Amino acid sequence: MKILIIHGPNLNLLEKRDKYIYGGTSLEGINRLLKQRAKELGMNVEIFQSNHEGEIIDKLQETLENEVSGVVINPGAFTHYSIAIRDAVEILKVPVIEVHLSNIYSREDFRSKSVIAPLCRGQISGFGISSYILALEALKLLDRNIDR
Ligand code: DQA
Repeated sequence: MKILIIHGPNLNLLEKRDKYIYGGTSLEGINRLLKQRAKELGMNVEIFQSNHEGEIIDKLQETLENEVSGVVINPGAFTHYSIAIRDAVEILKVPVIEVHLSNIYSREDFRSKSVIAPLCRGQISGFGISSYILALEALKLLDRNIDR
């Protein structure tokens, strides 16, 4: 079972961002934990980070050609306004889960709107690194068909 994990803009510099909001773990640290958990779940993960909207869209479109069973995406600030990423998610045939380290509903008003989440299977927000881990586990459960 292959899963694509996408980290959006500024997540490459996580350790330089507010650690009270984002937890202070570097992206490398997050990716290490994700690979470890994926292995335990019998998943093969491809991890991609970009600061560029178009590159994220290209990566999402690639899943139409590849054997990908699900996508976990933290679109960063694109969450709140990228109709182009929303449209790319809409085309996909596999479940997409939007994740956020912080709880986007407890912050500035402009962060409490996601234009992408309505096109996703679900959203997990506010659990730090565990948001990503929970998304992997949800994809595994969906794959086992236990909740349809
Ligand atoms: C974020 C929340 C966004 O509002 C913000 O722009 C980010 C990170 C999160 O993971 O909490 O860059 O997606």
